[in-house]
Amino acid sequence: MKPLIGVDYYPEHWDESLWEADAEMMKSIGVKVVRMAEFAWCKIQPYEHAFDLDWLDRAIEAFSKREIKIILCTPTNCPPLWVYEKYPETLQTQRDGQKIATGIRGHRCYSSKKYRELCTHVIRRMVERYKNNNAVIAWQIDNEVEANECCCEECTARFRAYLKKKYDTLDNINQAYGNIVWSGEYSSWNQIKPPLGDYNEGWYNPAYMLDWKRFCKQNAADFVRFQANLIKSIAPDTSVTTNTWFCGNAPDYYDMFSDLDFVSYDNYPVARIPKDENALYSHAFHLDLMRGMKDGKSFCIMEQLSGGTGCWTPMGRSPLTGMIQGYSMQAIAHGADMVLHFRWRSARKGAEMFWHGLLDHDGKPNSRLAEFEELCKEVSALSDDLEGTRIENQCAIVYSSDSLDALNLQPQSNGYHYFNQLKSFHDALTSLGVGCDFIDEKSDLSKYKLLIAPALFITNSDTAKRIHELAEKGGHVILTNRCGVKDEVNGCLDTPLPCDFADMTGCTVDEYDPLGYDIEKVAVPFCNGTFDANMWSESLTLNTASEIAHYEQGFLDKKAAATQNDFGKGKVYYIGFCSPQRAFYISLMRYVLTSAGISFVKGLPRGVEITQRKKDGLKLTFVFNNSEQKVKVATDKIKCELEPFEMKILKQRI
Ligand code: GAL
Ligand code: ZN
Repeated sequence: MKPLIGVDYYPEHWDESLWEADAEMMKSIGVKVVRMAEFAWCKIQPYEHAFDLDWLDRAIEAFSKREIKIILCTPTNCPPLWVYEKYPETLQTQRDGQKIATGIRGHRCYSSKKYRELCTHVIRRMVERYKNNNAVIAWQIDNEVEANECCCEECTARFRAYLKKKYDTLDNINQAYGNIVWSGEYSSWNQIKPPLGDYNEGWYNPAYMLDWKRFCKQNAADFVRFQANLIKSIAPDTSVTTNTWFCGNAPDYYDMFSDLDFVSYDNYPVARIPKDENALYSHAFHLDLMRGMKDGKSFCIMEQLSGGTGCWTPMGRSPLTGMIQGYSMQAIAHGADMVLHFRWRSARKGAEMFWHGLLDHDGKPNSRLAEFEELCKEVSALSDDLEGTRIENQCAIVYSSDSLDALNLQPQSNGYHYFNQLKSFHDALTSLGVGCDFIDEKSDLSKYKLLIAPALFITNSDTAKRIHELAEKGGHVILTNRCGVKDEVNGCLDTPLPCDFADMTGCTVDEYDPLGYDIEKVAVPFCNGTFDANMWSESLTLNTASEIAHYEQGFLDKKAAATQNDFGKGKVYYIGFCSPQRAFYISLMRYVLTSAGISFVKGLPRGVEITQRKKDGLKLTFVFNNSEQKVKVATDKIKCELEPFEMKILKQRI
């Protein structure tokens, strides 16, 4: 993908007379790509049998004649109201059995055959119209597809079919779920329903709930696939993506993007750095997660922070000087190529009028636009060097969609969140200047020297096998508390924890205590330190492992809290607690990286990130100051001063 800077633009929100002026202004400051049309269905198809794309032709022309490229979107997130009026089956059904109320966006049911038929009509029209337009470089499917939990009849039928394919018989489902508990055994397929009713999710059978979540994710991915196939059947050579974010009902990102050409992420970093030294604020975490979704291939920021955010919440602080340029460069440093800013103009109408774009409501050039112009110049100058570079890392963290859902369904202790478990390790690696990939359970593990699988709650037998193989062949592996707790159907295993991993860790869990926000003291001799444990504590029985940390007080006093074990040619670490202190994870990572022979950077000031992108003959080292203070970097290899949010790029021929 060619590195390009761009903006999100909504021609349908503005008088046509502004389009030319906007396009001219964009050209003069160096905008190279514009995304449009993702919410414009009612302008494209105002009535069932009336299509109008003439206006879109003119909008595209305004940009393409100035050599600005276009990303077009399928407008399927927002069907026009006539669709819902005439075909109410296209609307999602809530858990209370009622149809979702229209009036905002995203009301559609992915399973509805009628909805898919209407999508097909509008998408076909658009792709056929623009398939030979060279300015159109890619298609974005819908907008922020989430794993919606629709309870309509069509979704119910698809859920039953999903279970039928997976389990074949009701007996098998009853066995797998343990439906005997609370007399929940199914005796007919019609009894299988979505989770209707206003209950806390934790009251339902967790095996059933995990399958329901898996189904909803698969259904969302299927909807994306349906659109991608349709687009490609008309324009086989085009590129297709969908834009995503970290939402509550997250899709299975790896599955959703598997047949798409590239990942797109909507990137809204917080506009103030938390004062708390221990806060896990690094936005690099999200960027690395996104890059991992297609095996490290380049990705795109489809929406990037451009101004103060807010609408349905009170407005947040305006971005600090340097953030507009710096956070785009940070995304590029973590593997993004295209970065499009949301949005060119702040809306004057509609719900999002205070989610600010680059231009305020008055449309006058301002300091944000000036910074954005700098960004356009910087990336344009870097474009040839950047093109074709890749990020290659020796460390990876496993992201398990199943474990995320299962831990959300059954929170293990007050405040224990799956993402925080991943973030703690990622943050420590980042603060040591060590790049890290996020990988799916199905990814190739063998290329990593160090694999971290925090809270791998659901044990997928194939994943467990491959983690074993990695260690046997000499890899270093870190496992933590709440690894190996559940089987694939979300039931508890009956061997000593960490169950299928106990041979690797060389230790088993003796007793555990879900600490929540309470604290236990842990002594960590390898760094001469004492830290607090919170969220979880467990005492470990050493089999072949040796202790690397122990509790210092409380009822676990003197018992082992973390271990290391030689396994095959590799080493396996097991951490039986979590810590609220970043310093613990940083010390641990220094210890493990040293043993794994992975170099790290000493003495990086807080907030400074170092990443690298390489290709044959060239290495680009990005040094970014993600802090509100000016910093001095003085490591073995890098000496420089950075203003807040400044990026310096060192070029090296290799
Ligand atoms: C994104 C969404 C945009 C817009 C933006 C600002 O999540 O894709 O359409 O809503 O947030 O709120
Ligand atoms: Zn539905």
